[in-house]
Amino acid sequence: MFTTVTGTAIDKAIALLNANEVVAIPTETVYGLAGNALNNDAVVKIFEAKNRPFFNPLILHLASIEQIEEYAFLDDISSKLATHFMPGPFTLLLNKKDNVPDLVTAGSNKVAIRIPNHPLTHQLLSQLHYPLAAPSANPFGYVSPVSAAHVLQGLQGKIPYILDGGNCTVGLESTIVEVENGEVILHRAGGLAIEDIEQVIEKKVVMATHQSKPQTSGQLKSHYATTTDLLQGNIEELIPLYQGKSIAIISFKKEYDGIDKQHQYILSPSGNLNQAAQNLFATMRILDAMHYDVILAEVFPPKGLGLAINDRLKRAQVSEKD
Ligand code: TXA
Ligand code: MG
Repeated sequence: MFTTVTGTAIDKAIALLNANEVVAIPTETVYGLAGNALNNDAVVKIFEAKNRPFFNPLILHLASIEQIEEYAFLDDISSKLATHFMPGPFTLLLNKKDNVPDLVTAGSNKVAIRIPNHPLTHQLLSQLHYPLAAPSANPFGYVSPVSAAHVLQGLQGKIPYILDGGNCTVGLESTIVEVENGEVILHRAGGLAIEDIEQVIEKKVVMATHQSKPQTSGQLKSHYATTTDLLQGNIEELIPLYQGKSIAIISFKKEYDGIDKQHQYILSPSGNLNQAAQNLFATMRILDAMHYDVILAEVFPPKGLGLAINDRLKRAQVSEKD
């Protein structure tokens, strides 16, 4: 057990990480639970604090593009993507070098690499002589944290320190891709829109099929889940199914008739998908704490970050929970 402290002291974070303890760190996507990726004791502590199964590999977080080739092999297309989108809400799956521990990659010969775009964490990473392994800083299966307070809610007593970098500006986990035979394969929709990737590669991104997909926790059926039942679909059709129950609604920009306004959570009144993404997880947490009988969520426009929003809502659904 720890007394979990929240603060902005990079020195303190470094001292703990050097002692192979874990520290929650801010990124622009979601908060991560970080430890020295090259030290198995530290990596085991990450899995234990989160209650995460060991078969789920972790992302390696680096300070700069130049460091990538210390840990992985960069092909031309991956290199081009790195140049365009790193630092940013973007993760590349690459062939790993021998110095990356098997515990980090769960035995895979691929390693996931990301360069977060957050000033505090950038400063931290630049001062370390090892990369940080970091999954999202939430108990396994729950909604990812987008503020230091969210991290504390889930991991109080389990970790010594939370580096507070404010609210996450993107609000959804990174987009994960892998380059295979010249194609860019999407493993997880996230904070970087695939349209932006397609513009750089001048062709379509390929959706990973279930067979080709490595086991990633974000791909498990029940994930990003609220404790309260959540259903995604056509709100007008869903409402009558919950007569007599307390209902909360998550919508993009629309207000619905027949449900009190105070139970309707509009993620972006102006219809901006980036803003909706930024508000999604915080809203899911607020609604979960209010103990409605059910949370009904819209299907968002399937473009830009709408793809990732739909993915997270789909995985949070009741029907997916068993
Ligand atoms: O934005 C993000 O990506 C955040 C911040 C903290 O960086 N991190 C994050 O980590 O979302 P996590 O562990 O919650 O999700 C990372 C995903 C998992 O689904 C994991 O299985 C997959 O990346 N992954 C990591 N390494 C992999 C590998 N070697 N092969 C296949 N999938 C991998
Ligand atoms: Mg996660």
